[in-house]
Order: sequence, then C-alpha cells, then structure tokens
Amino acid sequence: MLPELKFGYVGAGAYLPDKVLTNDDLATIVDTDDEWIRRRTGIRERRILAEGESILDMAVGAARAAIADADIDASEITDIRVGVNTWARFPSLATQVQAALGLEGCSAADVSAGCAGFVYAVEEAYNKLYVERIRDHRAGTALIVGVDGLSHITNWQDRSTCVLLGDGAGAVVMREVDSGGILAIRTSAEGRHGQLLYCESALEAQWDPSGPGPFNHATQGVRPYLHMDGRKVYGVAVKTMVEEACGVIDIFNRDNPSPIGVEDIGFVYPHQANLRIIEKVAARLEIPLDRVYTNGIECFGNTSTASIPIGYVDPAARERAAVAGDYEIDVAFGSGFASGAILRQVGSTPTS
Ligand code: UT7
Repeated sequence: MLPELKFGYVGAGAYLPDKVLTNDDLATIVDTDDEWIRRRTGIRERRILAEGESILDMAVGAARAAIADADIDASEITDIRVGVNTWARFPSLATQVQAALGLEGCSAADVSAGCAGFVYAVEEAYNKLYVERIRDHRAGTALIVGVDGLSHITNWQDRSTCVLLGDGAGAVVMREVDSGGILAIRTSAEGRHGQLLYCESALEAQWDPSGPGPFNHATQGVRPYLHMDGRKVYGVAVKTMVEEACGVIDIFNRDNPSPIGVEDIGFVYPHQANLRIIEKVAARLEIPLDRVYTNGIECFGNTSTASIPIGYVDPAARERAAVAGDYEIDVAFGSGFASGAILRQVGSTPTS
C-alpha cells in the first residue's frame, strides 16, 4: 500500500498585461459589435501584450506573485512546469523562468496541452513530488505556471476567433501539506479532432512546397495563426468538461470510504472559453452559477492555459470561492481535444 501523502497549493499569483482591448476597439478592426460579442461569448474586454512586453514577462510576473503569496524563498523550488502553447521556440519557457528567478539546477520543462496545459502541468508536478518523496525521501516544492500570449497567433482579420482571445498568466506553488490539497487528477486527449482547433508551426506557415528543399523559407513573413471551427469545438467542449468533472470525482470515490457527489463541490474553476459553455457545463452538473468562476471570460477573454490559475487570485472568485474544508474542481478543455480535471480540498497548510 502506497503511503498517503498530500500535496496542495500553498500560494498563487497572476500577471495580466495593462493594455485593455475592448469590444468597441475590435469593432474598428473587424465587422463585429459589442452586442454580438457579449451575447455569444460573455466577453466584455481582454488584456493584450504591449509592445516590448513578452510571454516570459507574464510567466515571471505570475511566478513571482505566487512565490510571494506562498511566503517562500525562490531557492526552495525544485521543479518548474510551464503550461504554454505560444512560446514556439527553445530553450523552453520554463528554463527561462528559472533563469529570471535566479535559480540553478532545478528541473524545468514546458507542457503543451492546449488550454488544458495548466491541468497537465499540475499533474506532472504532482507526480514528480510524490515519486521523489517516496523514492528519495525528498520534500520538493513545485512552481507551476499557465501562460499564453494568444495575441501572437491571432488573425486580426478573422472575426470568429480574434474577439475571443486574450493574454495572461497564472501560477501556483505546490508542496506537501497536512490537510486538504489535491485529491485526484485526470487527463485525456482526442488528437483525431486536431484539425478543429490548431495553429500551424512557424516553419510550416513559411513552407513553400514549390521551393528547392526542406529548408526553403521563400514565403517568410507568413505568420502562423490560430484556426478554429468554433461551432464543432463548442459541443465537444461542453460534453468533455462535464465528463472530466464527473470523472475526477469518480477517481476520488474509488478509494474513499465516504464518497462525495457533485452537490458537495463548493466551487468550480472551468476553463474560460465562452460564458455560454461555462453556463451549460454548470447546468449539466447541476451546480449553481454562483459557485462557478466566470469573471475571467468577462474581463480577460480566453487566456488559454492561464485561465484557471488567473481565477485562483481573481477577487471576484475569491469572494465566492469555497471555504476551508470544501471541495473545488478545476476543469479544462482545448486543442488536441486535450482535457483534464483536478479535485482539490481547500485549506492546504504547508507541512512544517
Ligand atoms: O479554448 C479552446 C476551446 N474553444 C472553445 O471552446 C470555443 C468554442 N466555440 C465558441 O465559443 C463559439 O462557437 C463561438 C463564440 C466561436 C462562435 O459562436 P456561435 O454562436 O457558435 O456562432 P457561429 O460560429 O455559429 O456564427 C453565427 C454567426 C455567423 O453568421 P451567419 O453565418 O449566421 O450569417 C458568423 O459569421 O455569427 C457570425 N459571426 C460574427 N458576427 C459578429 C462570427 N463571429 C462574429 C463576430 N461578430 N465576431
């Protein structure tokens, strides 16, 4: 029998660019209007990286805020996992966060799983903390960041996608706790639906098949963009997030003498892709909307892998979020139809 160890968040932080892009601003770029965007998506405005402000700036800003919130010294971090889809270069963003924090030697890697990247990154970090604790008797500390600069891959001529997206980052510090913490995690994917939501690589976008060889960049300047069949993605998003949320409760109940149900969930942090999707998921789960995070989609748009950890420190969620001892669920869905959910209990206290 494996020892019962608990790992949970001991600090959280976020970084949102100052630059605001309103629906009225977008109406000056494409054929759209504030009424359509609000009614179909719930989005009022989003934040966009300013010139000279980078994805790394956002990741480091969120990381620093989470470290301060955890009240730890950055040197205690043993593992950095960054969920990101828009870095598109190497070295990895996680290693650059490590360098910016002045850390040396700790493990650092990116996780690419669409908008579910944060959930996947938490799962990887959790598993690593668990294994190292048992195998090496080492009590580690993980820094997990979810960050995306979707404005870098937005086609500002495509009204069906450009109105949805925003930039941002969120982060948590995770370590062993005495009570609460993460109770179950699950992740899955359906890559066969990849063509419904994708972004080609910079190299592919510049690929000219009539050119002389595989490294021909004759069409340089063509940018890789996000493409989405919104209507098809919408249906799968609702179904998948409901399945993930119920599935993670089932995993917990499998080994638990006192099983819980959806009615026991105090608060849900769903990926913020569209207010209508969130409302449908809540309705199918029969969880009242006042126990569901929605402010992210209204104020920041779809920030991809950042949308859940931004919620952890959003005052609008904190006012309504569950209290110590309550159960919370994070549930995400995105490109590659990668999805996942985390069941947590509030009230983590670091193990001294
Ligand atoms: O984070 C990853 C996961 N992403 C998602 O889960 C997103 C899922 N999809 C969605 O959120 C929604 O499908 C959208 C918000 C993308 C679109 O909403 P919809 O209600 O599915 O609209 P639609 O695509 O069916 O388009 C309805 C109409 C069309 O016009 P016609 O053909 O009926 O004349 C579109 O051309 O709305 C038109 N339209 C717009 N009109 C004004 C599409 N975009 C816009 C726009 N402004 N920005």
